[in-house]
Amino acid sequence: MSDAIFTNWTDDVTRAWATEPVRLKHRLHTDPLFSMAGLAELVDRYPREHYSLMQVGAPGERRTWREGEIGKMSGDRVIESIANGRMWLNLRNVSGVDKRFAELRDQLFGEIGERVPGFSAFGCTMGILISSPKAEVYYHMDVPGQSLWQIHGKKRVYVYPAEPPFRRDEDLERIALYQVEVDIPYNTSYDEHARVFEIEGGEMLHWPLNAPHRVENLDCLNVSMTTEYWTEPIRRSQMINLANGILRHKLGVTPRSRAINGAGFWAKAALQAGVKRAGLLQKARKERRSIEFQLDTERIGAIRDLAPVGR
Ligand SMILES: [Fe+2]
Repeated sequence: MSDAIFTNWTDDVTRAWATEPVRLKHRLHTDPLFSMAGLAELVDRYPREHYSLMQVGAPGERRTWREGEIGKMSGDRVIESIANGRMWLNLRNVSGVDKRFAELRDQLFGEIGERVPGFSAFGCTMGILISSPKAEVYYHMDVPGQSLWQIHGKKRVYVYPAEPPFRRDEDLERIALYQVEVDIPYNTSYDEHARVFEIEGGEMLHWPLNAPHRVENLDCLNVSMTTEYWTEPIRRSQMINLANGILRHKLGVTPRSRAINGAGFWAKAALQAGVKRAGLLQKARKERRSIEFQLDTERIGAIRDLAPVGR
């Protein structure tokens, strides 16, 4: 058995888990799996279908969100390129691609299960984000339970209350319906209500389900890890998001309940299952975004636009 991943978990953390944002210490930044050489080697052999490479705008500039690919470039050059550019590489499923990360994931969720009474997670996945100095992740919320682990570099994370106007039912319903990151309303005045954390290698954050958040990298290359998980209440909450989304956005009825038990819940469970089975949402869900650029092999940190295909 290897050393515990969490290094300063206390009873206070157990009490706060999932009801408020928590910051914890971990040891993964010293694990050879996450050394720069280890990460470069992972990028070298990482399957194309399991990563996303996004270009983002400079702070204060228009929001850009373009998707690209690595092309022919070694892992260490990819990381160098990100260190000199304005993008992020999301290795979305390292636990599905590499057994060593799957073992780490199992150990990590095992430790949470030992410390949080009644915690029983399934569908747990782990991803690694390598992102440029000053890159941002815009205001958004996620459907599964989520944690953010800082490995190298520093970032500032804004976590907003999981209640209106920050987290609105109708936005979660649109995310459930269309299964893409949809734009949700954000106003800079929200920041007054955010908990702001500056995290560095060896720290992680966990926040309540669906709490909106956004991230600003400080002026350095950032390597982070994300973990996602489902529990039975989270699964049911997502069924409600979808059923209420169908009611509100497809049938024009304002949903009155988010109950995850009782007759109302089971009627909605049947409604969303029926619509899913009938494939009625397929058309509404966007096709995969097109790939617009590749990393420039000649100029480190630059990108090369690809010609549009089939449009
Ligand atoms: Fe997120």
